[in-house]
Amino acid sequence: MKTIIEPFKIKMVEQLRFTTREEREDLLKAAHYNPFLLRSDDVLIDLLTDSGTTAMSAKQWSALMDGDEAYAGSRSYYKFEDAVRDITGFKHIIPTHQGRAAERILFTLVGAPGKVIPNNTHFDTTRANIESSGANAIDLPNAIGLLPEVVADFKGDMDTDALEELIHREGPENIPLVMLTITNNTGGGQPVSMANIRAVSEIAHAHGIPFFLDACRFAENAMFIKLREEGYANMTAKAIAQEMFSYADGCTMSAKKDGLVNTGGFLAMNNDALAISSRNVLIITEGFTTYGGLARRDLEAIAVGLVEVLDESYLAYRLRSVQYLGDAVELNGVPIVRPTGGHAVYLDAKRFAPHLKPEQYPGQSIVCALYAHAGIRSVEIGSAMFGRYDADGRLVPASMELVRLAIPRRVYTQSHIDYVAEAVCEVFEERENLPGMHITYEAPVLRHFTAHFEPSV
Ligand code: F0G
Repeated sequence: MKTIIEPFKIKMVEQLRFTTREEREDLLKAAHYNPFLLRSDDVLIDLLTDSGTTAMSAKQWSALMDGDEAYAGSRSYYKFEDAVRDITGFKHIIPTHQGRAAERILFTLVGAPGKVIPNNTHFDTTRANIESSGANAIDLPNAIGLLPEVVADFKGDMDTDALEELIHREGPENIPLVMLTITNNTGGGQPVSMANIRAVSEIAHAHGIPFFLDACRFAENAMFIKLREEGYANMTAKAIAQEMFSYADGCTMSAKKDGLVNTGGFLAMNNDALAISSRNVLIITEGFTTYGGLARRDLEAIAVGLVEVLDESYLAYRLRSVQYLGDAVELNGVPIVRPTGGHAVYLDAKRFAPHLKPEQYPGQSIVCALYAHAGIRSVEIGSAMFGRYDADGRLVPASMELVRLAIPRRVYTQSHIDYVAEAVCEVFEERENLPGMHITYEAPVLRHFTAHFEPSV
């Protein structure tokens, strides 16, 4: 049989609320054409993010009830620590309330003016945490990763020649660590090959530089390696994940993705001195070392989630269900980042709306049209998110203009996804009518979260 089915059945349901197009047009206007400012009750299918939007399993909910809410030395912490160590092998495991808290602790300690931190592509919060330490965040994506229409197996890889060149230019003493984001979210959810993980690790270590993974979607990355990289077809996703982590000295993790939970994360590492400093910052900013800003029951849910996420029937369904949406829209000529990534379909707004220039934020225009047309919430990953201004106040656009349709884990069924595909195709048919957008308010950092837009007439 060829159909890969959802490897679960549904025990509890949540009612969706339907709205009319007129209502949605008013709601969008009131939200300043920024879907981050919509109420979720006004959204029919929410593809804003795959982060913290997971449906937890019955086993996770029952583990919550077993949480030991002790401030210090909680049994739940030790279960969590065992689960994380089993996969990552790291010596020190420091719980945080989500991924960016791990980033903040790490970069408060290793970042400073004059320091440079390379990555395949930094996620926005990673970049913001590095920059707020005064350090410089550098993206070194593989050239092919910037070509949405080209199909390749590992478009998330880092450009290792560029890494060598950067280390030579900046000096290893100015590079406190090298990072790799698996999968490469900002670069289209594309996986990183084991060969690249190994090569980046070898280059960093040859210069005495620690190597860290941004591991949010490590399980999806491991499954892509199993399916695509020579020599891994017969290994379990778990063994592949263990090998990935074996090349690294530490990681930051948002458990809101491949931890299959609604909140949580961790910072892990082998370096004793860095762990002591990290725990000191943790106690000031997050909480004691055995809970780190979480309820102890949350640690229980992560411990179970980390086992469930490496179940290969889950991972096969997960990658297939994302590809299913990608295939459905591509069949109708909708331009997307190819091949589909692990957690989302990325529409290529430059080819979707070629009549709009980057300074007209084509991605934002598509995001608004999808909401107005069908109540679907998505997010722009382009010049609204990553654009900067030059000295003359002119927009320096992002390298790609994308719209991300992120699929929450274990939440929507195939007919929800069929509805999304239909809506995307209908908006595409009417693409010539998409208006340009302009910004009427923006914050100095991470502006896309709170910016106000208006359609240009
Ligand atoms: N790194 C990556 C690659 C991420 O995708 C995210 C979050 C983080 C770090 C930060 O983790 O949200 O737990 O603090 N990504 C979400 C998204 C928000 O929608 O892609 P966090």
